[in-house]
Amino acid sequence: MQNPRGEGRPWGGRLRQAADQAALRFGASIAFDRALARYDLRVSAAHARMLRRAGIVSAEDAAAIAAGLEEIRGEIESGRFPYDEALEDIHMNVEARLRQKIGAAAGRLHSGRSRNDQVATDLALYLRDGCAAARRGIAELRGVLLARASEHMDTVLPGYTHLQRAQPVRLAHHWLAFERMLARDSARFADAARRLRHSPLGAGALAGSTLPLDRDFAARELGFEAPSANSMDSVASRDCALEFLAHAAICMVHLSRLAEELVLWSSSEFGFVELADSHATGSSLMPQKKNPDVPELVRGKSGRAIGNLVALLTTMKGLPLAYNRDMQEDKEPLFDSARTLGDSLSVMASALDSLQVNAQRMAAAAADPLLLATDLVEALVREGVPFREAHAAVGRLVAHCLEAGLDLLRLDRAALQNFHPAFPADAGVLLNLERALESRAMPGATARSSVSAALKAAESELAADAATIADVDADAAESDARGESA
Ligand code: ARG
Repeated sequence: MQNPRGEGRPWGGRLRQAADQAALRFGASIAFDRALARYDLRVSAAHARMLRRAGIVSAEDAAAIAAGLEEIRGEIESGRFPYDEALEDIHMNVEARLRQKIGAAAGRLHSGRSRNDQVATDLALYLRDGCAAARRGIAELRGVLLARASEHMDTVLPGYTHLQRAQPVRLAHHWLAFERMLARDSARFADAARRLRHSPLGAGALAGSTLPLDRDFAARELGFEAPSANSMDSVASRDCALEFLAHAAICMVHLSRLAEELVLWSSSEFGFVELADSHATGSSLMPQKKNPDVPELVRGKSGRAIGNLVALLTTMKGLPLAYNRDMQEDKEPLFDSARTLGDSLSVMASALDSLQVNAQRMAAAAADPLLLATDLVEALVREGVPFREAHAAVGRLVAHCLEAGLDLLRLDRAALQNFHPAFPADAGVLLNLERALESRAMPGATARSSVSAALKAAESELAADAATIADVDADAAESDARGESA
């Protein structure tokens, strides 16, 4: 089939026939890899500066390239850039546009480089920003969780296991559990970013270049610490993208669990919370409905994040070294997970921020005296009874209360002693909700002092984290500025 543009294939090398149009469309990535445009321009600008320094490109051509790239950046930012599917990807789109602007000098830009090291470098820059953005989103949600937790130090609800009421806890304690998960998520993204310090640029197609490239210079220009150590690894690996996808999937699973509780807790059956109208939807049919679509969608979108990870793992599995075109399939999952995670974090932050808590409903659910059965076991243990024996005795006692419809708290010492002679006092003396909470005063537990210490620790950890994210941003802005002032 003839290429309707009639331009042949400027980078087709030995190829003589025009591209089949369906095959061309099949291979084109410009519809999505335009998301890499700003990184691609930065990489090209740094590469051009390096070529000039190394004496591979004249100062005059380097200046024309820099000016042309700068113009293209303006076109991309203002939405005027004429993307062309026939040019396949962002790299060829930029180079072809540069040629239109500056002519033959544009043909020097690709000296010593391949789209393989180019796209790997673009991705590394994208991922560096992506990790910082994820950490900022996580920090915002952690901030809301901490604020809501400090508001609800004295709101008590049942803690659940198997979705059965288990033991009473402070709502602050419950929400701090999610804050801890998110703190680890943030640490995972910070850690992934630490493995993005080496620049793939200069790896060429796979084996480096015969040209005297200054890889150290190019790496530093782009804010990397050093060039990568192995050219084949540089163009063949996507584990940084996989890490990002894995961390995003884990974080989305955390959000999904938090979302699930909002869905559950806002049902009439629980009635623990009510979403703000701004974060709920009505029903097209049933006018009385208030649906928790926002948390439901967060829960639903966690599936996408998991799918994206599995998709790229599957793509990479079994690929021979070095670059293979399969790897172009890295981008859509990556961009999708980055956007899904960012949106989900921010919508969960505002949903939680505007959430109304029904402390009475929670307290009523936590008032069930059977939630204190474990404390009764431990009362016997304190009297020297072996735990298993105490557990069995209280088990019989609970079964008796349930069968006879008795309130555990009303049983006096004599009644208790029918089940074990070591009970030291009336149930009403041994059991009390406030004491149940307060006697759990070890680090990490639900006593007021423990929770308030945990809250303080989390607040200072978050503040320290926010400072390191700010540092990352400053670094990125600095290398951005360097890239744009060439
Ligand atoms: N669009 C390609 C990708 O994302 C760029 C690299 C193409 N390299 C090649 N040898 N065809 O993977």
